[in-house]
Amino acid sequence: MASNLQQRDAKVCWHPFTQHQIDPLPLPIVSAKDATLVLEDGSTRIDAISSWWSVLHGHCRPELAEVLFKQASTLDHVLFAGCTHQPAVELAELLIEVAPDSLSRVFYSDNGSTAVEIGLKAAYQSWVRRGQAQRTTFISLEHSYHGDTFGAMALGDPVPFFSEFEPFLFDVRRVDPTAESLRTALEELGDQACAFIVEPLVQGAAGMKMHSIEFLRAARELCTEFGIFFIADEVMTGFGRTGSLFSCQTAGIEPDIMAIAKGLSGGILPLSATLVSEEIYQDFLDDERAKAFFHGHTFTGNPLGCAVALRSLQLCIEEQTPQRLQEIGNLVECALASLSDHPRIEMRRCGGIVAIEIITDHGGYLACAGDILRNACRELDDVLLRPLGNVLYAMPPACTTEEECQIIADAMIKVVMQAVQ
Ligand SMILES: Cc1ncc(COP(=O)(O)O)c(C=O)c1O
Repeated sequence: MASNLQQRDAKVCWHPFTQHQIDPLPLPIVSAKDATLVLEDGSTRIDAISSWWSVLHGHCRPELAEVLFKQASTLDHVLFAGCTHQPAVELAELLIEVAPDSLSRVFYSDNGSTAVEIGLKAAYQSWVRRGQAQRTTFISLEHSYHGDTFGAMALGDPVPFFSEFEPFLFDVRRVDPTAESLRTALEELGDQACAFIVEPLVQGAAGMKMHSIEFLRAARELCTEFGIFFIADEVMTGFGRTGSLFSCQTAGIEPDIMAIAKGLSGGILPLSATLVSEEIYQDFLDDERAKAFFHGHTFTGNPLGCAVALRSLQLCIEEQTPQRLQEIGNLVECALASLSDHPRIEMRRCGGIVAIEIITDHGGYLACAGDILRNACRELDDVLLRPLGNVLYAMPPACTTEEECQIIADAMIKVVMQAVQ
């Protein structure tokens, strides 16, 4: 029976990625603590996917709540054009200290898609400032996902989400994650190429597809050789998800532009940032005002988000969150060992991300195995899991205990066995 909250929701809310005609009503969540979500009826679910890969340390960390309260009582918000404040400056200082050395400037926004848009605009306008306005083609990876705004949609794989918008999307060259494929694209595009954008090491929404460190290194070298920008979209991979603070550091490479969001604020407030090299920043300096970077959002540099993000990043360093997430990934993977030899299952892990792909004869992401996974996940009464098509994955927050890892793995086995029967 639908609860009161679900009934009221059904009358007025429109949920993301939801087919309201056929999908079940949303879970009514009333509170959360550490890795646990509490439902209206008092039952609980372990948040095995960190609420869309954002919640980093765990839910309702007292340190973050305290900082938020203090900041809200001191300076809640002020526009970031013509004004500045301590949280934004301190966070930018720390980000620049811990990010790859190539990055020296921080441009704030409020979600991953806009952080990517800003990266695209900064890259292209940088070329315009250098007198190369013909460099209009971005290169992205097959199956990539960079967000839901128009520029980000253009970069992403049109299937299954964006194909109806194709008349509005600019041309993008898509390549496989191989050096040969990228080199061919760069040779063919010549001086039309603007930048290469990649979700380093793990392509999240594609179903946690993983590519090699060697590919990333080769891609960085190719971008340097052909003189185009390398944009790392670390919206999902950032803040320790793949083993280092940033995936680029795991691979030992330095991007020209890096987009971060989700875990930036500990995953609890809408804050994002685009970090760029000094060279790109300098391209916008001019005596003419019109040559400035004309982009900004109302909540750019919001003090609440910045204050919480600063404390979250300090926690990340103090508590060695990347290592902890890696241990959690290892625990879940070990607990899934019984699945590893199954002929219809491919397992993969990178840092704290563990994925199980159901191998299908056709359909892939859209195969009916995905429906079975989704329905089976909804039946779980102890863990919150949400498949990506035919891929079931876990990416729990850093507070997840060993016992919870076992419960997550047991739930994954239960779900997967229904799809491969
Ligand atoms: C790699 C990547 N880039 C960008 C985005 C878009 O972020 P947001 O949903 O905050 O707009 C996502 C979201 O999942 C993502 O995984």
